[in-house]
Amino acid sequence: MQDNTATNFKNSINARAYHCLLLESPQEKVAQSLKLREEWTNGLLSVERDLEIIDNCDAGWPEKPELVAFNRLPKRTVGSLKGHASMMHSFAHIEFNAINIAWDAVYRFPDMPEEYYDDWSRIAQEEAYHFTLINDYLKSLDYEYGSFDAHKGLWEMVEETRYDVLVRMALVPRVLEARGLDVTPNIIQKFKHHGHHEAAEILSIIYRDEIGHVEVGTRWFNYMCNKREIDAHQTFVDLIERYAVDKIRQPFNEVARMKAGFSAREMEYLNQCSK
Ligand SMILES: [Fe+2]
Repeated sequence: MQDNTATNFKNSINARAYHCLLLESPQEKVAQSLKLREEWTNGLLSVERDLEIIDNCDAGWPEKPELVAFNRLPKRTVGSLKGHASMMHSFAHIEFNAINIAWDAVYRFPDMPEEYYDDWSRIAQEEAYHFTLINDYLKSLDYEYGSFDAHKGLWEMVEETRYDVLVRMALVPRVLEARGLDVTPNIIQKFKHHGHHEAAEILSIIYRDEIGHVEVGTRWFNYMCNKREIDAHQTFVDLIERYAVDKIRQPFNEVARMKAGFSAREMEYLNQCSK
């Protein structure tokens, strides 16, 4: 744990975010995330602008799920109950990652405006809620988070973008999380078709909230481009080409992406770069 003085640690949202990030137990991570957000909204915390940042700290992960390469994960089918549970488990894993992503965004970049910490601590709270919804659902099927293997793909992009908040906002919410907006409506339909109505309802809540999370990414990406007086469109294109061209896949959910702040010009670029 970082050497913060007790007072600074207790009152700083970003120092406490680091603590949430490192927690290994999902239950503890959820409980502390909700508590931290509540203290922030009650005005009990400030941003420690001089916080010393540890470059290569890993997030806390529970012993299970085992993290394996993406291509070692079995192909999932919604037809069987186990296949359905395994699919919901992959969503639980995304949400667990998303709690860490939100707290890392709060911890790692200490010189952003106050609203930035408000946005990302709200996201952490919502991700903790999503995680709990799915994990409770898995338990009702006699599974839980950790019952299946998972992969580390999401977190690798977080590690690659530690060096710059602008790059982080462009590539984590606006590429990886935006992909969720494209694929989730079809999965909701499939679940309904197979009679998994509760799961469909949970994913509908998540889908609604995730539009807002991607929008936060857009807003802070544009803010940083403005601040540095660089062209936002060209910067986004350059970053995709450098890091993520292989991650851009059609078809896009244009309606959701526009709500999340993608411009018509960005959508035109994404459409042609994924052909
Ligand atoms: Fe989420």
